[in-house]
Amino acid sequence: MVRRHRPQRVHPPRLDAPRPPGLRLHRPPHIAIANTASDLTPCNAHLDEVARSVANGVHEAGGVPLNLPVVSLGETQVRPTAMLWRNLAAMAIEEMLRANPIDGVVLLGGCDKTIPALLMAAASVDLPAVVVPGGPMLTGHFRGTPLGCGTDVWRLSEEVRAGTLSQEAFLRSESAMIRSKGHCNTMGTASTMACMAEALGTTVPGIAGTPAPDSRLLALAQETGRLAVELVAEDRRPSTILTSGSFRNAIVTLAAIGGSTNAVVHLLAIAGRLGIDLTLDDFDRTGSGVPLLVDLQPAGRHLMDDMYRAGGLLAVLNEVRDLLDPEALTVTGRPLVEQLTDAEIWDESVIRRRADPLLPDAGIAVLRGNLAPDGAVIKPAAASPELLRHRGRAVVFDSVEDLHARLDSPDLDVDETSVLILRGCGPKGYPGMPEVGNLPLPAKLLAKGIRDMVRVSDARMSGTAYGTVVLHAAPEAAIGGPLSLVRTGDIVVLDVPARRLDVELSTVELGQRQPADVRAAAPARGWERLYIDHVLQADKGADLDFLVGSSGDRVSRESH
Ligand code: FES
Ligand code: MG
Repeated sequence: MVRRHRPQRVHPPRLDAPRPPGLRLHRPPHIAIANTASDLTPCNAHLDEVARSVANGVHEAGGVPLNLPVVSLGETQVRPTAMLWRNLAAMAIEEMLRANPIDGVVLLGGCDKTIPALLMAAASVDLPAVVVPGGPMLTGHFRGTPLGCGTDVWRLSEEVRAGTLSQEAFLRSESAMIRSKGHCNTMGTASTMACMAEALGTTVPGIAGTPAPDSRLLALAQETGRLAVELVAEDRRPSTILTSGSFRNAIVTLAAIGGSTNAVVHLLAIAGRLGIDLTLDDFDRTGSGVPLLVDLQPAGRHLMDDMYRAGGLLAVLNEVRDLLDPEALTVTGRPLVEQLTDAEIWDESVIRRRADPLLPDAGIAVLRGNLAPDGAVIKPAAASPELLRHRGRAVVFDSVEDLHARLDSPDLDVDETSVLILRGCGPKGYPGMPEVGNLPLPAKLLAKGIRDMVRVSDARMSGTAYGTVVLHAAPEAAIGGPLSLVRTGDIVVLDVPARRLDVELSTVELGQRQPADVRAAAPARGWERLYIDHVLQADKGADLDFLVGSSGDRVSRESH
């Protein structure tokens, strides 16, 4: 093993000389700016400008900034689903960080999968690293009403299908919604993962949620560039910052902000890279009893711009300070809790006081039962309270194509008490575990005014989506999980308070059934082949089995 690119340790020349802090380099530190800017990722398209501010900060602190374009994933552009490529992005970024002569890295992300992929890579290569989240877009209005990305698209598209909104008005609402640069302005996955990056301690304080067009984002990016040089000097690496305490902080934050269910899969994958024993049950255990304090779509009313104006993430964290790990460090070298002292709430209708929460218990619930022996998740904050205990007849779809072909048929035997089941959409089954778990409701029920039903799948859902939706059922149907055994007409019982998801069939009856074959055609080659052969189930973070863990920053051989 050689360490050609890595800084050399210089021991103090004399025993009585002050010991230099951390590492000393023979040259100015090389700071990569891992940049996910791309015209095909509109949410991250402005990151080149942010990168210039980071580079200025690196220069100011005496480092050498090096722009490193990395794999970018645009949620709305990439097919069949950006999640299929998250692990590819993480793998490519990790290898380029290791292979190039760099000492530290600033990670620029925004759209849903980009921050998770960057953090997974940084965790595995373990070079000093700091995140700059690209920030949400500004609030757009349509017919005088603020619109939330994703959340209002789901809502208004149901109105189009119900016949209460024209297609033309729907398209106008869409262009009103996307008003500025930045990522989705709801508490979807992008906003959630920015907050997770800060709660984990991997950003400068107060940056999560800074709107993309806000000049303060560039100032904080410059500060981050300076900090990156300090991280190298101090040898402060992801493995010293990302601990079980910082994951605790992330889970508490996830509940308090009403964040995306996708964070569960991403945090499990990041923890897996670090060898931290984080399990699905930790989300329920740690998140239970954490109040929902942020009144943002999809769990509430407002948008990211409102949260920033109301005091931002630090004000939220200050309200739940006693639930946070007091020792979990951040990239600044100080514990997260010490960075909350000055944080104030300026608008209590957006960020609620601890004594007056939106919901007293907002954690993501982890369900088990004979339909999901390895677990499934539901976000009670975005569900209909009256459906959290429900017993209904299954209506089963074997694929999204099957769903689209039959859902709106007048002959579909379904009513509002039915439980819609979609299978074949897990990590291996689709492949890539797409965001289809919030499946649309049958047109004839929409016409009756029904707007929510219990839905169960092995898929994910967009962080911007809502409804009484059970997701990530594991093991998935494509590998013979029990969802593959359910038939239309079976009785499904959801009991969120008891954390149960069952079909009313005995173990013997289930054992006698043949699993439905819902696997996608096996790809002969390429990434999809590698992915299907190696992807783990959702309850393990859906990483590839051989990417779990860390290889550090050492290169194996010289190039000549
Ligand atoms: Fe990029 Fe929503 S589409 S964050
Ligand atoms: Mg999304």
